[in-house]
Amino acid sequence: MIAQLMTSSPAGTLSAALGDTAPYFDLGPAPENESCVKQMRLFGRLSGLPFWCLASTAEGQQIVASTADSLAMIPFAQIEAFQSARGPHLVTTESGITYYSLPLPPLGEMPALAIGWIRSRPDQRPDDLVFAAVDAGWTKRQLNDWLQTQPIASPELVDRLLNASWSQAGADHREETLRNELTSAGEQIEETYEEITLLHSITGNLHLSRNPQELADWSLARVRTLTQAAGAAIWFEEHHGPTHFLTDGKMPLNEKEFLHLCTRCDKRDWSRPFVKNRLAGTPLAQELPELRNFVLCSIGERSQRFGWLIHCNAPREFGSVQASLLQSIAKILGTHLQNRELFSQNQGLLTSFVQSMVSTIDAKDTYTRGHSERVALVARILGEELSLAEQDLDDIHLSGLLHDIGKVGVDDRILRKPERLNEEEFEQIKKHPEIGCQILAGLENLQHVLPGVRHHHESYNGSGYPDGLKENDIPLMARVLAVADSYDAMGSDRPYRKGMTLDRLEAIFRENVGPQWDPQIIEAYFRARVKIRRVWSAHRPSNLAALSTCLSLGRSRVTPPKK
Ligand SMILES: [Fe+2]
Repeated sequence: MIAQLMTSSPAGTLSAALGDTAPYFDLGPAPENESCVKQMRLFGRLSGLPFWCLASTAEGQQIVASTADSLAMIPFAQIEAFQSARGPHLVTTESGITYYSLPLPPLGEMPALAIGWIRSRPDQRPDDLVFAAVDAGWTKRQLNDWLQTQPIASPELVDRLLNASWSQAGADHREETLRNELTSAGEQIEETYEEITLLHSITGNLHLSRNPQELADWSLARVRTLTQAAGAAIWFEEHHGPTHFLTDGKMPLNEKEFLHLCTRCDKRDWSRPFVKNRLAGTPLAQELPELRNFVLCSIGERSQRFGWLIHCNAPREFGSVQASLLQSIAKILGTHLQNRELFSQNQGLLTSFVQSMVSTIDAKDTYTRGHSERVALVARILGEELSLAEQDLDDIHLSGLLHDIGKVGVDDRILRKPERLNEEEFEQIKKHPEIGCQILAGLENLQHVLPGVRHHHESYNGSGYPDGLKENDIPLMARVLAVADSYDAMGSDRPYRKGMTLDRLEAIFRENVGPQWDPQIIEAYFRARVKIRRVWSAHRPSNLAALSTCLSLGRSRVTPPKK
């Protein structure tokens, strides 16, 4: 039996008839955008042979497109063999017709074939062809005229044409696959680059002074453009700003609903993000009907949780790329909050240490009680007069508080001796700057105050101790402290003398500027002398309230904990 399939025949109708019992299908417009049709047309162009695109359906075989104005006829017996072939296939009949086929991509889920036929001998008029023409209603003359226009090719030539077309199409397909993979890889790289840039920007903003809420607010919208979520939110366990529930976009949950979700999920392993793409039909969907899909990450671990991060209602399902990105953001925020907490604890310890050190000095030398605080205050005013940066002022203040810390290593009898010290005793006293440095040397957080501690007894002309530095070789912090230290020492009462009058003190400053003190610091003193006198006179030993300012978060040079 012949599968007789007529396309654009001389009768001018599009029809398909599969033998006597085959059903008739009105195929409608050819699905030109289908890959099987495109592939069939490619085979036609490459080989020059006529082709029909034959698709298998539950109802039977259908021709859905053709490259030829020809009688479409294929023996049913051949179709099965063609369908099982994995490459070019051809059969030549004794009557002089070569039937051939090439596999095509499926049409939807229907298997498809590119099939065709061509005469191999001009001197024969095959029976198959005559029967097909009769079934199609052609006259003998129509058939003869039509045959005059049809090509003829040997089976060997058809075989070569088919194989060449198959190879070329395969190469084209591989090239297109590679091109698609390259495009996909390029898009992936671009997406990854955007993610890395975002993470880099966020980590670049992780200053300890940065409020976590500001950081979260800053990152919310930026991250949402990458995840394409309709809404995003961050909720903090503790208040870090005016609000602890930050949202961006069209967030489908209010704060109460969001916390309900977090509580429901709390038993999970939060080392990984929780991704839920299909909520429809789940109990959660009944409780939170506006929520379609989400990625939920814990900020911090369960033992030390700082909050939650969620992105929800993406147009497509959340994948591992978005989930990993959000987990990274949550980890960055968690680490930042943990660092701030550790830093705050560190600051508290440092404050306590400095307070106890200053108290210890006061306890050792009761005659100079309050000296360290007054030196710190005067030095700060001098620093302000020199237009130093706020950070430098804090450093000078702290160094002033600790400048005599080395006296804890000097014999109490010498420190408390009311009479003038002999040479040997004075040599003992002169060791306190170095002892102070040794005490503080192991404290990494106080390294920046060491220049003031070690060199506050250096003289501008190089005659001081412990290193005999001169002029600008003496650290500025120490030159400022030297003036403040002398001001308080000369102005305060001692067991063996009353404090000097301001006139006498300032006369000594004028006489010894150059040899002992830096002229620019003395000039600064005289510009600020009224303020210094007011602050110095009003000062009483306190609980070092100003200390918290010097050690304030983000302004101190204390090395932050490592991430
Ligand atoms: Fe000193």
